[in-house]
Amino acid sequence: MCGIVAVIGSREAAPLLLEGLRQLEYRGYDSAGLATIQEVEKDGLGLLSCKRAQGKLNNLSSLVEKFGSPGHLGIGHTRWATHGKPEERNAHPQRDISGEIAVVQNGIIENHRFLRKELEAEGVSFSSETDTEVIPHLIGRELKRMQSDGGVISGSLLLTAVQNVTKELTGAYALAVVWARTPEALVVARRQAPLLIGLGEGEFLCASDTPALAGFTRTILPMEDGEVALLTPLGIELYNAEGKRQQRSPSLLTGIDHVVDKRNFRHFMLKEIHEQPDTAELWVARHLPAGLPPTSPVALPFDESFYQGIEQIQILACGTSRHAGMVGAYLLEQFAGIPTSVFYASEFRYSAPPLAPNTLTIGVTQSGETADTLAALAMEFDRRKANGDPAFASRQLGITNRVESSLARQVPNILDIGAGIEVGVAATKTFLGQLLAFYALALDFAARKKSRSSDEIISLSNELRLVPNYLRSLIHRHDQLSEQLAHRFTDTQDVIFLGRGINYPIALEGALKLKEISYIHAEGYPAGEMKHGPIALIDPRVPVISIAMPGMVFEKVLSNAQEAKARDAQLIGVAPEGPATDIFDALLPLPEVSELISPLLSVVPMQLLSYHIAAHRGLDIDQPRNLAKSVTVE
Ligand code: AGP
Repeated sequence: MCGIVAVIGSREAAPLLLEGLRQLEYRGYDSAGLATIQEVEKDGLGLLSCKRAQGKLNNLSSLVEKFGSPGHLGIGHTRWATHGKPEERNAHPQRDISGEIAVVQNGIIENHRFLRKELEAEGVSFSSETDTEVIPHLIGRELKRMQSDGGVISGSLLLTAVQNVTKELTGAYALAVVWARTPEALVVARRQAPLLIGLGEGEFLCASDTPALAGFTRTILPMEDGEVALLTPLGIELYNAEGKRQQRSPSLLTGIDHVVDKRNFRHFMLKEIHEQPDTAELWVARHLPAGLPPTSPVALPFDESFYQGIEQIQILACGTSRHAGMVGAYLLEQFAGIPTSVFYASEFRYSAPPLAPNTLTIGVTQSGETADTLAALAMEFDRRKANGDPAFASRQLGITNRVESSLARQVPNILDIGAGIEVGVAATKTFLGQLLAFYALALDFAARKKSRSSDEIISLSNELRLVPNYLRSLIHRHDQLSEQLAHRFTDTQDVIFLGRGINYPIALEGALKLKEISYIHAEGYPAGEMKHGPIALIDPRVPVISIAMPGMVFEKVLSNAQEAKARDAQLIGVAPEGPATDIFDALLPLPEVSELISPLLSVVPMQLLSYHIAAHRGLDIDQPRNLAKSVTVE
């Protein structure tokens, strides 16, 4: 979703902004822009240069190359359209009527209509349809008011204007502001949207995500909710929402947080699918080292108090992360014996179930920045606190791939899936990492609650240790098979994915992957539900992809697949080879593993088939239309 980069220092700002924005491209965007300020008189008025372009970042860099954008201070933005079409006039930076104030914003200003009307009544004419444009106009009005009250032009004046204006805004936002009259001041602010300050050598930076900073500095100061900061060449002044000066030590970025290259793969998504054996191997090394006793079968970073008294679990997540949560719920209920519910975070926020005691809430978000998931967790924290739940402060767990994210700062317990940065908008290796996190939790809870025998715990642990190798051979083989099969989907408009039990969420995930990157309509169903309606959709043009793994529901799934075949569906099986599975017109074969670990493997053909169908159609796989990697607005 929208990305912000800002810089003030001794180097030319535009190339740094463009490089930072390039690192944020993976989040998804449809236009980009930057503004720089060149000091023309010592301690006087600067020149604001603003360049914006619809489409890819290259369009913006061509503009900058052609016309230049001088100055050592600047702000940049990649925009994912919310208010107003993805056109140049709606791209950021947005400016006030004087053209001296420029603002970039990530979020949604919910009261923008009201503010716009108020400003229009005062004679302000708007040049965009964005919610953001009210901000530079409000800052301009506030600066004028303060100057007529004797305020002297300075960075501090700009800071105060932003502090005053942010009090008028409702909604979630992160923003960066420059003013041509203060060529040595950059003001940034955030409320419920991420923003981090980077402390570089001879420069300060600010960005909405670490990859944009990691190429310049590893020393970062994540801004807290409601904070506003003034950045000058001399230092940082940080204030909380009440205007009180804050002092905090910066932290060090660990790991490789900048976007790495595609190596020899055509797309990041394909590279990330191929990285899954490494994700699993690292997880086994960290959490399932050899020699752990069945009474304590996994190494997890929580102390005893975390586990005490947990009687039920609720999982909050969106999209693919919710599908991982559904597999997790299956494991926690069926293996560990803990009643578990899964919610769309966006629904939970406004219709949470009645409070039940001794409940652990798990938020699953690979980015750690999904607005709905963060807000749902915050809401749950607040209502438990208000209700006097004695464990309200410790009963939340976040499963994420980004340990420096807002999630990690918000919840007390974090399980890092350690998959390394994922660039492709379609989540693949992070889904696997989330699944593995749930296997670890299920093993842990089963051992603590003694809901499984030692033999069962040892057997599941041993099977999980084999997953990296299974994945290695599976991915290689399925890459070729899926590429061959993809040609059959040239004219396909609808696909149905079937699964049951622990593989039902994988059918949902298969459908989501296909929709996201190939734009083919797809639905995932629990196979037994077909005959209650969806079977009406079946005809020879609708492929049915059925996940059938030996286990409790194997025969049932095969019967459900037969029902589709009887109606002339093209039947594709994701199942082990053998006489039972020769009903399928095409087979994407899986090894015969236990049903319990099968989602870790059955998801691979889903990912590769979607990938190759989209590649065959020549689509923009890593940045599919309309999608964003981090969904930081409601
Ligand atoms: C996954 O392929 C999607 N891009 C999307 O559904 C994603 O899983 C969802 O937006 C949640 O993201 P998160 O894990 O970062 O919270």
